Amino acid sequence: MLKVEFYGGKGGVGKTTLSSARAHYYTKLGKKTLLVSTDPAHSISDVLGIQVGSKLKSITPLLDAIEIDPEEEANLYIDQIRRDLNSILSPVVLEDVNKQLRAARVMPGTHEASLFDKMIELMDLHKDVYDVMIFDTAPTGHTLRLLTLPELLIEWFEGLIKKREKIVKLKAMLGLKEDDPILARLKIRRDTFLKAKDMIRSDNTSIHLVMNPEKMPLEETKKAMKYLNDAHQPVAEIIINKILPPDIVEPFFKNKIKKEQEVIAEVKAIYSYLKITEIYLLDQDMDADSLFKIVELL
Ligand SMILES: Nc1ncnc2c1ncn2[C@@H]1O[C@H](COP(=O)(O)OP(=O)(O)O)[C@@H](O)[C@H]1O
Ligand SMILES: [Mg+2]
Repeated sequence: MLKVEFYGGKGGVGKTTLSSARAHYYTKLGKKTLLVSTDPAHSISDVLGIQVGSKLKSITPLLDAIEIDPEEEANLYIDQIRRDLNSILSPVVLEDVNKQLRAARVMPGTHEASLFDKMIELMDLHKDVYDVMIFDTAPTGHTLRLLTLPELLIEWFEGLIKKREKIVKLKAMLGLKEDDPILARLKIRRDTFLKAKDMIRSDNTSIHLVMNPEKMPLEETKKAMKYLNDAHQPVAEIIINKILPPDIVEPFFKNKIKKEQEVIAEVKAIYSYLKITEIYLLDQDMDADSLFKIVELL
């Protein structure tokens, strides 16, 4: 059964570092793993030390990686909608619709929706190839919020399908019996979201929040935890990254270390039922070599 892990958190906290390290960690356990980046900044290439692109790339015998470009996906997504509509609408209406679709390319939500489609497609297409799939999410894309959407969208599509079925029935009564491409398309969309819901709600799918040991990030993590819990999408692990090693003796760092340890203690107290992973700040930025120091800490 495919295991799926999502890594979320603010920009710069270490999502790319931790998701890449976890991917390596799973390959050490002998698991065939796919690391997926949905961040347009595409930093997994830097961390893995190999240029990754929009096609599956082999990193090690057990590790593959792929970068999804939200903008490219949004364009593909809208082109698909356009093709669907082209075949069923009159040229006059189509002109108007095309105008709206052009606007949709830059509309908030389009990137997320198309990204979501692509994630589901990846999971569905490769579920028999990989043991583990790890998603490194973008800081701006509300990917984790997105995970709570399918339920809402299923209901919405059910409503649209019912309406469309009524129209098709009326047409049939008038003797206009033909296949209805709109209805077919709506059903495909609904089925995608049903599949998405099953995958996301599965016990094999988990959310991992990355944070740094500071007061503000702690408050943000609390908010994210509450939102996800309310949406019945519980978090499996909190990773506290970039912790100052307590053995630093310089007085300058003493207070900072004390404050960080207070935050860590609070996280442990509030979320005692969760897996809390502590990762120290390394004395260098992440590259293919230093990444393995993090893998050791997992
Ligand atoms: N434990 C760590 N020790 C040292 N540097 C780290 C650590 N974790 C992350 N970094 C560095 O912090 C920066 C942001 O990390 P990154 O994983 O890209 O964050 P995100 O993906 O959340 O934006 C990078 O330069 C990375 O090398
Ligand atoms: Mg990143």
